Amino acid sequence: MPSPIQNKRIVLGVTGSIACYKAADLASKLVQSGALVDTVLTEAAREFVSELTFKSLTHREVHTSLYSPNSNLSINHVALAESADLIIVAPATANTIAKIANGISDDVLTTTILATTAPIIIAPAMDANMFDNPATEANVTTLIGRGFFIAGPAEGRLASGLMGKGRMIEPFDIMGAASMLLGKDGDLSGKKIVVSAGGTEEAIDPVRNITNRSSGKMGYAIAEAARDRGAMVSLVAAPNHLAKPIGISVTNIQSAEDMKKAIEDECLEADALIMAAAVADWRPLEKLDSKAKKDKSDHWSLELVKNPDIVAGINSSKLIKVGFAAESENLVENSKTKIESKNLDFIVANDITAADSGFSVDTNRVTIIHPDGTTEVLPLMSKYDVAHSILDRVKSGF
Ligand code: PMT
Repeated sequence: MPSPIQNKRIVLGVTGSIACYKAADLASKLVQSGALVDTVLTEAAREFVSELTFKSLTHREVHTSLYSPNSNLSINHVALAESADLIIVAPATANTIAKIANGISDDVLTTTILATTAPIIIAPAMDANMFDNPATEANVTTLIGRGFFIAGPAEGRLASGLMGKGRMIEPFDIMGAASMLLGKDGDLSGKKIVVSAGGTEEAIDPVRNITNRSSGKMGYAIAEAARDRGAMVSLVAAPNHLAKPIGISVTNIQSAEDMKKAIEDECLEADALIMAAAVADWRPLEKLDSKAKKDKSDHWSLELVKNPDIVAGINSSKLIKVGFAAESENLVENSKTKIESKNLDFIVANDITAADSGFSVDTNRVTIIHPDGTTEVLPLMSKYDVAHSILDRVKSGF
């Protein structure tokens, strides 16, 4: 299934902020995802970036004036408003936000926004004091009330040198918001899907733990793909280095026991559970309160106890349960045993011996195995595409 951004007409409004440089990256990412991107630059944006930047990235006309004889906007000033599937204003300055909130339409961007029925994402970028100003607060509240999606801003170092809230969120996150809005009426809308991701950590002492090589990428890809098809997604995530995906509720946990509790809570109202996490099978019998000293002996024996099997313990007739199996030998045989012992609707077996599939990489080569023994060997794909293949099979079980 393609990303919901593919073949969509997206108006990218760029306003006068130093964060304009990130808008060029966003334009590039949108085009790479298959969107037709019509860029609108305000007068102030043109002080920071040029028309040529966006024309080169999008291969399309860049709009700066309602009155240019070369633009079809001079014939139909609401042409962009009518054709847009989505409008993104990134970066959005305090000034442009104020104009939009007050219905002002004195340039291409504000006219397009006033005249459209398309969903609109606003990604604010400004100094922290400007964002905290009651005038901006009131304008943002007005826009939220009118159904605009306000993405960010993030906290961090601002162009003024101050630290605070006002940084434009990253293009990756704006892409997430765009996928979510464009996919909200997708084939999984109305369904709640719980996904687990990453390798649990079992503490030995305050410094050391037992973990595994899972990066969380497979679970995050499933969560994002489900969001992009309109599902309500709860992600239960073991420690990882991935950015929190927009529009997905994330519960961060550490150990298998934490994961069990979070998944049990989330599954009370869920339609499907997809266990992509690599859960530690064993944990230390006791966690030491202070760091174990290494100078006492050359050997150290740790006593381990078995962790509960999370997915096996979740039992609800209306819940579709999908497991994963990371196998280094007898992929199909070992996976079949797990379907039975964990009462799964199907299992996704990855070949972790190949360099381009399994742990940490962005691609995966999986075999889907069903309870009746049928197997589907899928080709090497991105983890996002593998996620859609899994969701197609989950959907057919609803
Ligand atoms: O995170 P990435 O770097 O992208 O890598 C992805 C992955 C390789 C970790 C993932 O795709 C994967 O294969 N996860 C399952 C790892 C595994 O071997 O699981 P298992 O065979 O130990 O368990 C089988 C199933 O039972 C899994 O769905 C697991 O989540 C679940 N389980 C396991 C143990 C336990 N105590 N409770 C469980 O619920």
